[in-house]
Amino acid sequence: MRKPAALLVVLLLAAGILAASCSSEPAPPPVEKPKVTIDPSELTAFAPLPAEVPAAGGAATADLVALGKMLYFEPRLSKSQKISCNSCHDLATYGVDNQPTSDGHKGQLGDRNSPTVFNAAAHFVQFWDGRAADVEAQAKGPVLNPVEMAMPAEPVVVNVLESMPEYVEKFTRAFPNDKKPVTYDNMAKAIGAFERKLMTPSRWDAFLKGDKTALTPEEQAGFKTFVAVGCKTCHAGALLGGSFYQKLGVAKPFPRSSDPGRAKLTKDDADQGVFKVPSLRNVEKTGPYFHDGQTPDLDQAVRDMGEYQLGRPLTPEETKQISDFLKVLTGTIDPELIKPPVLPPSTSRTPKPDEK
Ligand code: HEC
Ligand code: HEC
Repeated sequence: MRKPAALLVVLLLAAGILAASCSSEPAPPPVEKPKVTIDPSELTAFAPLPAEVPAAGGAATADLVALGKMLYFEPRLSKSQKISCNSCHDLATYGVDNQPTSDGHKGQLGDRNSPTVFNAAAHFVQFWDGRAADVEAQAKGPVLNPVEMAMPAEPVVVNVLESMPEYVEKFTRAFPNDKKPVTYDNMAKAIGAFERKLMTPSRWDAFLKGDKTALTPEEQAGFKTFVAVGCKTCHAGALLGGSFYQKLGVAKPFPRSSDPGRAKLTKDDADQGVFKVPSLRNVEKTGPYFHDGQTPDLDQAVRDMGEYQLGRPLTPEETKQISDFLKVLTGTIDPELIKPPVLPPSTSRTPKPDEK
């Protein structure tokens, strides 16, 4: 019995001495912060994302945005009553379907990759070739597009919406000054108002706003490489893109060049293969890449840009660094914002689905 007791006393004494000696030592040095290598002067071409993109007429009411969200998820805006905006621009997967091109009405494939709707409202124009001015004008396209939602005409769409009293009431609240609130244009305005909220700030925005610990040293090195090789000439601003057009293959002809790009619209040969420079926000999640969706791998897309846009083959090291930086642009999405809404039930007046 005596031996263990003595041992205990010794142990207690030792612990006491240890504790005392510890507390008298200076506080441990603070955890080392990542070394900041980016100078503020290197960031002037970039900007944080706005919280939303207000329409020309000012901020939208909550009623308008809520209606827009319902319409975004509304498959009865399609002929088969199976396809909504969310089918090709799934908000749960960063606003894309991750397909090279999307299945529309009767499984028909479109000819271009579905871009994300997140942050799209901040682009200077909509679509790969800029054929719609803003998200409101854009939203009028897919519903009547025969390979997308395939509705035959605007009045048919209005008829569907008017067949459900809950929609009539919601349009009336969202457009209180309109004599006839349920119109095709108002449908597009409401969807646009919802899309103007779909912004995805990321660690990059925190960094731009002054939190120098928001990026790891590796990610900061990636940004430096992104700038040094010349990506910034086309991918800058708040979206890292989305603010002008450029030719795909400006330094060296791009191997896949069957799409005329803007020339389809302008009939100008100089616009052959010219597309909107896409935003790089969330690009980690929005593959496959390019207007034709034929490049599944982000590293490959980065290498292609070096080769065809810059005429500068990138080393594996540079490619990896740039991809590391691009992943910083993956934003956070408010789960409430994208939660699918409850849609009103069809009535006896609602037209039946037509899969033909
Ligand atoms: C069948 C698939 C499909 C459906 C349904 C669909 N879209 Fe799209 N969307 C696309 C494709 C493909 C493009 C690119 C077409 C192009 O640029 O020529 C596109 C482009 C867009 C863009 C432009 C984004 C950018 O970066 O320029 C927006 C915004 C958009 N769609 C919103 C919508 C809305 C709102 C709806 C519902 C009213 C909708 N889409 C329905 C496939 C679809
Ligand atoms: C001269 C202008 C220009 C330069 C420089 C440039 N890009 Fe691009 N980038 C574009 C255009 C235009 C597209 C769209 C091409 C298409 O799909 O037709 C694009 C597309 C992309 C895409 C695919 C995005 C998507 O959603 O499909 C990525 C990724 C990309 N660029 C990254 C980079 C990187 C990284 C660099 C630097 C190594 C770079 N770009 C340099 C103009 C440029």
